[in-house]
Amino acid sequence: QFIPVILSGGSGTRLWPVSRVKYPKQFCELLDKPLQTLTIERLQKYGAGLLVTSEKLKDLTEKDILQNQLKIEKVLYEPTGKNTAAAVALACKYLELTGRADQVAGVFSSDALVLNQVEFSRALQAAVSSAQNGFVVTLGIQPRSPETGFGYIQVKDRALNTHTATEVMKFHEKPTLEKAQSFIQDGHYFWNAGIFIFKVSRMIEHFKKNEPTLWESINQLASDLSNLDAIYSKIKSISLDYAIIEKLDSDELRCVPCDIGWSDVGSWDALAEVTEAMPFTEHSLKKQPVQIASKSNSIFSHQKKKYTVVGCDDLIVVDTADATLICKKGESQKVKDLVDSLKISD
Ligand code: GDD
Ligand code: MG
Repeated sequence: QFIPVILSGGSGTRLWPVSRVKYPKQFCELLDKPLQTLTIERLQKYGAGLLVTSEKLKDLTEKDILQNQLKIEKVLYEPTGKNTAAAVALACKYLELTGRADQVAGVFSSDALVLNQVEFSRALQAAVSSAQNGFVVTLGIQPRSPETGFGYIQVKDRALNTHTATEVMKFHEKPTLEKAQSFIQDGHYFWNAGIFIFKVSRMIEHFKKNEPTLWESINQLASDLSNLDAIYSKIKSISLDYAIIEKLDSDELRCVPCDIGWSDVGSWDALAEVTEAMPFTEHSLKKQPVQIASKSNSIFSHQKKKYTVVGCDDLIVVDTADATLICKKGESQKVKDLVDSLKISD
């Protein structure tokens, strides 16, 4: 057993124009339910956990929990986003303050999809027992492309064995394209799913060793959380992957390679891929276009309209009330640049 800790403070600009600053990816109905709702529902059978998110998302979060009757023990609202190292340190401190430092916690992104629940449970079971032995455990996903936005877990034994955690040689966060290509060729590398299972007290030790200043600040947290604003105003912004995971020795880190049907739904191309085999329904974001001399076009919209395509292949069209995106398949990573350059995110 473990305590779920769900991180939900990110913004997901690659899914503009559906994902907006005030209405980020994890709340968008990209599938039949928002990704955050699906994530909490997937984890609540392990117990009511912690949700660490941004103060700015309070209204959306409360509504989601209430409407979907989600089991959450405590929502920790961060005054400003300081990335995932701070969010995880905050959760660890809260668990320590509430007498659970000796328990196992599992950190999950709120905005990833897991399609194979059976494999997911099996992988978590292996991860939890390895975490009880003091390891920080990651879940490894068979890489499908030389994606540069992920962490890569270099393992000793490449076998896909969901029943035991395997030895990790090194963790490489967001490599260059050349490196990612060589990792894929080598075959001993898995994608990091952004899932970390560990004993709370062990993670605190890793913070003390690798991010002492950040931990010193978080460690001052009062049990009523009243000084959270003051603490957050002075801590640095860094991801857990860079701050801690990359710095762990191979005798501190383990990986459970697994086939859980994972997708981070990080771009319109990823969503097009994920929804390929899914049926078109009246309420789904994915629309069935009427096509002539056209193929492989993906249309996403919540509008009640007829979509038609003539003589075009491999397009992604995303239509919302106030903005429309037309993008060639394979190019949707660049939506982030579009949003950055036009400052059009909200
Ligand atoms: N509470 C909180 N506060 N949550 C945050 C913050 C923050 O400041 N920043 C990000 N998050 C949440 C996001 O909402 C998301 O659910 C999760 O933390 C991961 O953050 P991302 O910003 O999406 O990370 P990433 O995609 O660049 O990289 C991570 O995930 C990849 C897999 O999706 C890394 O762990 C990679 O190694 C991994 O491959
Ligand atoms: Mg992400």
